[in-house]
Amino acid sequence: MPKLIVVNRAGEETEVEGDAGLSVMEVIRDNGFDELLALCGGCCSCATCHVYADEDFADRLPAVSADEDDLLDSSDHRRDNSRLSCQIVMTDALDGLRVTIAPED
Ligand code: FES
Repeated sequence: MPKLIVVNRAGEETEVEGDAGLSVMEVIRDNGFDELLALCGGCCSCATCHVYADEDFADRLPAVSADEDDLLDSSDHRRDNSRLSCQIVMTDALDGLRVTIAPED
């Protein structure tokens, strides 16, 4: 099972495991991180699942869609490595991915 390292807003790191096929958002939520609201349930319409993804994995992540790009633009906290975690599906290639939960907008 691929591992995911989650950094919460306090800067605390936790390693969790997520089934391949689940989104990074689902893995974070299922492991009890209540900072990640994920209000739209993963249909790419809320941006409350905003994370910063480890740049070492940038070339293994799916491309940012136009909808994701627009939503990320609505955040005051967008960075080059910003992603909506519901748009990243866990795969073995992402084993060890580190994501940091972005500040709340
Ligand atoms: S959960 Fe709403 S955009 Fe990701």
